[in-house]
Amino acid sequence: MNAFPIATAGRTAKRKSDRSRFRIARRKECSHHITAMKSQPVLRDATAADLPAINEIYNHYVLTSTCTYQITPETGAGREVWFGGRGPEHPVIVAEVDGAVAAWGSISAFHKREAFAGTVENSVYVSHRHQRMGLGRLIMEELMRRARTQKLRTVVAAISADQEGSIALHARLGFVETGRLLRMGQKFGKVLDVVYMQWMPETAP
Ligand SMILES: CC(C)(COP(=O)(O)OP(=O)(O)OC[C@H]1O[C@@H](n2cnc3c(N)ncnc32)[C@H](O)[C@@H]1OP(=O)(O)O)[C@@H](O)C(=O)NCCC(=O)NCCS
Repeated sequence: MNAFPIATAGRTAKRKSDRSRFRIARRKECSHHITAMKSQPVLRDATAADLPAINEIYNHYVLTSTCTYQITPETGAGREVWFGGRGPEHPVIVAEVDGAVAAWGSISAFHKREAFAGTVENSVYVSHRHQRMGLGRLIMEELMRRARTQKLRTVVAAISADQEGSIALHARLGFVETGRLLRMGQKFGKVLDVVYMQWMPETAP
């Protein structure tokens, strides 16, 4: 269920709850640094034209957060390679707010060996200006819908153990912790553990 009313490209979703609308209004009143939404977000498949916006959202976290273990900003060329050659089982989607990309998500192969086919890893990144407005949930719910449609076996989220927001979002949507690897990364002088969370689509073979 989406956290708030959305318009998806090609179809319009219904208004879901008064509580959700309140949350958007609250953001408008209380925050000076978070961008307010003037219109409903629109979900759609990403195109090559979105890659600079996807990179801009991501590179903010490369430089400021342990949510990605990348330390050097992703280049345009690297992002093009990441985007290329994806089939319907490995989508990249974006949420547009007021005509600009404000969040994105992807489903990527977990491992290249053949027996891993059907096992995927998800990513979700919301612009730092649009956090806690329901966009992360919106992106995740669409990725989960795609995973069901594609009859994927399991979706894996590898999350730095210090990322409470991301762990809470995934748990809220039904992901469960299935593993924890210790001392896997080091960023900003901190040694970091990785939590693996998994969700099995109901349609999984
Ligand atoms: C983690 C992230 C995707 C969450 O997206 P968001 O749009 O800010 O979150 P939403 O508004 O959709 O929140 C949905 C639910 O997730 C949970 N949640 C999200 N952020 C949270 C936080 N900082 N602390 C605690 N719970 C949080 C809550 O349960 C929330 O529901 P609620 O607002 O009704 O309490 C976003 O903060 C982000 O992009 N972070 C940086 C990148 C990242 O960590 N990506 C994940 C890598 S796997």
